[in-house]
Amino acid sequence: MIAFRLNGQATTYDGDPAVSLLSYLRNDRHLTAAKDGCSGQAACGACLVELNGKACLACSTPMSKVTDGDVVTLEGLPETLRRTLGMAFVNRGAVQCGFCTPGFLMRAKVLLQTNPNPTREEVVKAVRPHLCRCTGYVKLVDAILDAATLLPEGNIPEPDDNPRLGSGWPKYGGYERAVGTRPFVNDIDAPGMAHGAIVFSEHPRARVLAIHTDEAADMPGVVRILTADDIPGERVLGLYAKDWPVYIKVGEVTRYIGDALACVVAETEAEARAAAACVKVDYEVLTPLLDMEEAETSPIHIHENGNILLDKTIRRGEPVDEALARCAFTAEATYRTQAVEHAFIEPEATLAVPEAGGVRLYVQSQGIWHDKTDIAALLHVPTPKVTVTLADSGGAFGGKEDFTCQPHAALAAYLLGRPVKVRLSRPESIRMHPKRHGMKLHYVIGCDEKGILQAAKVRIIADTGAYASAGGPVVTRTGTHATSAYHIPSVDVHVKAVFTNNLPAGAFRGFGVNQSNFAMECLIDELCEKGGFDRWQFRYDNAVAPGRMVTTGQVLGEGTALRETLLAVRDAFRSHPRAGIACAIKNSGIGNGIPEPCDCYLEVHPAPEQPAGARLVLHHGWTEMGQGINTVARQMLCEVAELGPDVAIDITASTEYGAFAGSTTASRGTFQLGHAVVNAARQLRGDLNKYGGRLDRLVGRFYKGHYDSAGQTSGQGAPGEIRNHVSYSFATHVVFMDEEGGIEKIIAAHDSGRVVNRPLYEGQVQGGVVMGMGYALTESIPVKGGYLTSGKLNACGLLRSVDVPEIEVIAVEVPDPEGPCGAKGIGEIACIPTAPAIVNALYLVDGVRRRELPVRKKR
Ligand code: FES
Repeated sequence: MIAFRLNGQATTYDGDPAVSLLSYLRNDRHLTAAKDGCSGQAACGACLVELNGKACLACSTPMSKVTDGDVVTLEGLPETLRRTLGMAFVNRGAVQCGFCTPGFLMRAKVLLQTNPNPTREEVVKAVRPHLCRCTGYVKLVDAILDAATLLPEGNIPEPDDNPRLGSGWPKYGGYERAVGTRPFVNDIDAPGMAHGAIVFSEHPRARVLAIHTDEAADMPGVVRILTADDIPGERVLGLYAKDWPVYIKVGEVTRYIGDALACVVAETEAEARAAAACVKVDYEVLTPLLDMEEAETSPIHIHENGNILLDKTIRRGEPVDEALARCAFTAEATYRTQAVEHAFIEPEATLAVPEAGGVRLYVQSQGIWHDKTDIAALLHVPTPKVTVTLADSGGAFGGKEDFTCQPHAALAAYLLGRPVKVRLSRPESIRMHPKRHGMKLHYVIGCDEKGILQAAKVRIIADTGAYASAGGPVVTRTGTHATSAYHIPSVDVHVKAVFTNNLPAGAFRGFGVNQSNFAMECLIDELCEKGGFDRWQFRYDNAVAPGRMVTTGQVLGEGTALRETLLAVRDAFRSHPRAGIACAIKNSGIGNGIPEPCDCYLEVHPAPEQPAGARLVLHHGWTEMGQGINTVARQMLCEVAELGPDVAIDITASTEYGAFAGSTTASRGTFQLGHAVVNAARQLRGDLNKYGGRLDRLVGRFYKGHYDSAGQTSGQGAPGEIRNHVSYSFATHVVFMDEEGGIEKIIAAHDSGRVVNRPLYEGQVQGGVVMGMGYALTESIPVKGGYLTSGKLNACGLLRSVDVPEIEVIAVEVPDPEGPCGAKGIGEIACIPTAPAIVNALYLVDGVRRRELPVRKKR
């Protein structure tokens, strides 16, 4: 019997003393503010609580250690303290996905009670044990410093109450995320819920000869063990191609170590995992195909149609070899980039609940409508029998576009007729979901004697791993953005994506552009050195601008403000002896002729208790994963319908209400949902005008907002004839390096369109910059020979607070004439030019051209 105090109350525990404090808090006491981000690795800090007045990582603290102790969780803080801390974080824009935030709040509490007036350096050091993948740590540190000022005053900070564009109106649901009361999937339970644990392939390539489940089936708590034989409908699903089996069948060959063979369903998660470890599989182990260049021509075919997923050429202008031959200066080099883990702090989880001949899923995925279609096919039920509702997503960055555990939970709940939750541990998450593509990129570029680019010849091969995922569109985007943001008359680009037995590669913030941008921007510096050109002027002279064309030949219109971002950094760039520079371009939307319809529904509900006598409910289908899509939607609604901050607005994302959207990807949420919301808001404003501005008189009405980015074309064509994307964003990053190769400061100037919410905008850019830093310096996935060498977050090379330099964000606000309220998507581009800017700056330190990422190993 362990006696201790929990949030001021005496309590006892008579279970297994080896169980973690986090498991006890979450599972036994249903105190879910402390999150499980790393499965007991003590790596992420999301589980932080206070034990005997000190910070304590609950995930790695056994219950035996709390004997006679005093445990305080976020739920147990005095309300004034909790609210002051929470609002300090919200007002700073320090809450993005919010999965990490409760841990930071507890860290702030513990720090400030012993050091009420910390310096910035002390706060940065104090939060070092915490990982945040969204914010880049800057605003988190700012928020703790704000809290240090506010707490002695005893004042709970007031939020900005201006709902119009450009303000700092608090993030929708931000406070609830900060204090841990807004549930993520793993915080939701259902009556009678069972738990599933997936059995993964032990080998990247092996024929499955037999799956023995007898021993596991006899383990305590086991309800059923599901395999491929249990699937009533389609066994093979996928995002863009149906090539990914939910379970590998006996007789089939595995394609990577994340292939699922079975799922054990048991009364508790611990029982499910214990039994899953006892499922025995007989394999004929085969040699994996791991080298993408070898895979191009290998007689071993990973998929029936061979190993080539994509083979695409973009060619325009004068034949490139002739154009290069005429150039006064040319530069040529080969670059290599690595696969990278998304490392969202919330691992994947799905709760499936049987419902009227189908299932209802609670997910954090990036495409609820895609989930709905695939799960209906899996279960062989009509699509309306599947409902998919989003909980908040604790970060995604592209890594939650493909299915992971959704089908396993759905199948189990459907067949068993009871709710089933399946969640991935951190090692399983690293093992299963697709990564950023590793690539080899060969570039030749040339310019005339004045430094005007004339030609680019590019050959790229990408390792797309075991399954198609989003590899086709991603590597296409590598090609369509191959020459970065420069106008070049002669272009010859060839991209290829090749299957291997490595982890699949798919969508990852930047969607294939990070790789080609790194190569092009580094080679431009080499060309400048050869020709004696100024690196800033060369970029300015060659930059795209209205009337100039991108790689594909699309001619850009107004709202193209790359040169303005260059002007914004010019003086700073020239003031420093070791300043690296790089520009970037990133499309918004999938484009290329693919229809991208988007609906939203705006309902007026009665609410006599509200000042307006009514409240608004906005239904849409986009994923809030930290980027602030709900906040953007709410501010655009207020802007266009001219609503004040006192109008209550609730927002839901579920297939239940019929508001269709594609995947939340390609920096398109702001653009597409924004347009749909503007469409609905105009109708609402029209009715408000008719009824004296009285929202209560509109109760019962609803407004459908619709948008489709029509008029885009696929492929290539003559300049002026094609329009692959409706909108692009642009950026220039500058990196100041010290004499030892340490980063002093990064300046990120972004063509932002019109800024919707300033703190969230800045946070997006800061978070993107730090992700770009990690890509350049330290990040890679812990995989060798097709096997995981580690399942630890710390093995992925992620940066922490102490690694982050000063980051100056400059918003160049040139409204996009195509964008809703002039806004643009900026989610992805923030992390694209950072890596080449860093590598270009490092060259100025030691004269070494680095052509392979990452350039350092994590300390
Ligand atoms: Fe920190 Fe998302 S806000 S991980």
